[in-house]
Amino acid sequence: MSQLNILTLPDSRLKTVAQPIIEINDDIKQLATDMLETMYAAPGIGLAATQVDHHIQLVVLDVSEEKNRPLVLINPEIIEQAGLQTHEEGCLSVPGIYAKVKRADQVVVKYQDIDGTHQELTADGLLAVCIQHELDHLKGIVFLDHLSILKRKLALKKLSKELA
Ligand code: NI
Repeated sequence: MSQLNILTLPDSRLKTVAQPIIEINDDIKQLATDMLETMYAAPGIGLAATQVDHHIQLVVLDVSEEKNRPLVLINPEIIEQAGLQTHEEGCLSVPGIYAKVKRADQVVVKYQDIDGTHQELTADGLLAVCIQHELDHLKGIVFLDHLSILKRKLALKKLSKELA
């Protein structure tokens, strides 16, 4: 196992659109393991492959208190969503910046697990937020992109100070 380097804004590689995973081979399994280790160490509750410079449709997350419920989503796709919630989000690629983002309250996501089995998961609350946030990364979107231009500018200004 090894920890991976996490890309941070304004790195333009975070804007890359991830490709579907055709074959879940040993390299993919190792990457998922390393991403979980990296996420737990950060610490964070979700990490997309995009953030560790692998542009494939793979995310890991764990929103449990005990940090013992890892989820690996391969080729995830939100197939249903409902309601609205506002949650203060942060991101390992945008260190030290938090902002309220409006997202669906409930989502149904279909994906393949690490064994390639097709799964469907219904999520609400924090897990739904986390899924939407991580799936955005696979499309090259970070949570700041959901803010107004003014709020985004303020956040980026603060980020440049944080990173200075
Ligand atoms: Ni993020």
